[in-house]
Amino acid sequence: MMADAGVGPGLIARLKRAVGPRVTTKVRCLVRGYGLPRWGNLRRTRPFSTQYGFERGTPIDRYYLHQFFELHRHLITGRVLEVQTSAYTKLFGRDVTQADTFDIVPEFDPTYVCDFAHCEGILPDEAYDCVLLPNTLPCFRELDRSLAQAFRIVRPGGAILASTGGLLPLTRDVPEYWRLTPDGWRELLASAWRGAELTVAEHGNCLAAVGAQMGLALEELTDAELDVHDPRYPVLTTIICRKPC
Ligand SMILES: C[S@@+](CC[C@H](N)C(=O)[O-])C[C@H]1O[C@@H](n2cnc3c(N)ncnc32)[C@H](O)[C@@H]1O
Repeated sequence: MMADAGVGPGLIARLKRAVGPRVTTKVRCLVRGYGLPRWGNLRRTRPFSTQYGFERGTPIDRYYLHQFFELHRHLITGRVLEVQTSAYTKLFGRDVTQADTFDIVPEFDPTYVCDFAHCEGILPDEAYDCVLLPNTLPCFRELDRSLAQAFRIVRPGGAILASTGGLLPLTRDVPEYWRLTPDGWRELLASAWRGAELTVAEHGNCLAAVGAQMGLALEELTDAELDVHDPRYPVLTTIICRKPC
């Protein structure tokens, strides 16, 4: 706008620097008819929580994860293996006959302490009706090997239910290696779990993504807000793999 008035770009840059981003934004929004952002206390470089909102309530990604497990609880049945603890097996399982757990770290007291990428000889072939991997695939350092193991231990006709964080802060208590887009997961899993019936879905929108990045809890947003689906903002990606019979 100012360039149209016959002033050079160097002067505009100096002017913007002099008045600062707040005034520049206001002027641009007024002149160009853009929506004016009102940041309030969201104009911050530190989140409200460094614990994904745990101390404020329930982390936002759990809204989508719990809906996912609720919707597919008929698959969480029979012999179930879950990473870390059997929390979700207990919460969402139906007619569970065996609830096993595994983890690379012994603190969670899992049934099997092992590196999942090298669990042959520990976890038998086709032993489980269901394998639950909530927010875990990005943590497997040897991802390809781990995916092959998950497919090996689930019985024909059984299911792997997994989720992976997208627009979420990194989990700093355990290393995370792989953050793929939903299309990236589709591509990778179609070849890792060849022949399986795969359903990969993204969940979230820009508000859910900002809330999650800022460490807000799902109780601080409405269901209507969280339910808006915008595939450009995958807060959480959910994965169902049905192994062919
Ligand atoms: C972020 S937690 C996910 C589970 C958690 N209950 C949840 O709902 O978010 C990931 C877990 O995977 C475990 N893990 C990471 N790499 C592993 C590996 N190679 N083999 C077995 N467990 C592994 C970590 O120790 C951690 O307990």
